[in-house]
Amino acid sequence: MRLGYLHARVTDLADARRHYVDTLGMQVVMEEPNRLFLKAWDEWDHHSVVLEEGGVGLDKIGYKVAREDDLADFEKRIQAFGCTTERMSKGENPAVGDGIRVTIPSGHTMELYHEIEFTDTAVGLINPALFPRHLVGIGVPRLDHCLLKAEDIPLSERFFSEALDFKPAERLVSDLSDDAELLGTWMFCQHKTHDIAFVAGEDGKLHHWAYKLEDWNAIKHAGAILSMDDVSVGFGPDVHGLSRGDTIYFFDPSGNRNEVFAGGYETYPDFPTITWTADKTNPAVSYIGREVADNHFTVDT
Ligand SMILES: [Fe+2]
Repeated sequence: MRLGYLHARVTDLADARRHYVDTLGMQVVMEEPNRLFLKAWDEWDHHSVVLEEGGVGLDKIGYKVAREDDLADFEKRIQAFGCTTERMSKGENPAVGDGIRVTIPSGHTMELYHEIEFTDTAVGLINPALFPRHLVGIGVPRLDHCLLKAEDIPLSERFFSEALDFKPAERLVSDLSDDAELLGTWMFCQHKTHDIAFVAGEDGKLHHWAYKLEDWNAIKHAGAILSMDDVSVGFGPDVHGLSRGDTIYFFDPSGNRNEVFAGGYETYPDFPTITWTADKTNPAVSYIGREVADNHFTVDT
């Protein structure tokens, strides 16, 4: 159904806490000596982002499936594709039920699960307020998507299509010839512009994860908070040509890249894949500015 949780490594948990709690406005739901479990105000599950002290980059991603039965079904299809799976037991991740763990073709660890403790949104489900009155910092409502690096983009795309029913909404290709190289793929599984994306690069690396904000005004407000807190900004605010989302990219104190994202179009099962050619990479990423800082293509964690 969606990216439900993401575990990332940070070099210093206290610095990370200032960034994710004070600047982004995530709430701490559980704390261990070297781990912080966080959720955003409009999320109903127990947690979405888990920060672990030691290193940088991605530890694992968790995608929630719609039905308990989907787990056995996807397990078979992942194995048929040629990837090895292992069972994950209830409680291995606090508040999360049984699931499947797989090293996807790009080398990242992905977990599929159905059950996770329901802990309600910050405004509740009965006559909810539009937003919590005392939001902190940006006040991010929800985790949205992630973009990962992969050496073999066609293989990653094929895995997510054939084993997990994702579809490519947009692709970046070297050119329009028959033997063009696939350089990136943005894939959806419900109605977002993308739930996961891959661009060419070193296996196992993280490009960014994103939070969904309401609209362009919320992006502007986020930019002001990032400046107040002296957060390092990659680029933006701008609008992506690819996905048509409003965006700012910025870095946490460990150097992991985050994004605030708004807008974008809806996708459907019959959505026709949009193609961008490599010579239009700059407007694909930054439609208005058309100048993308080098770090966007060279810095990963
Ligand atoms: Fe993104």
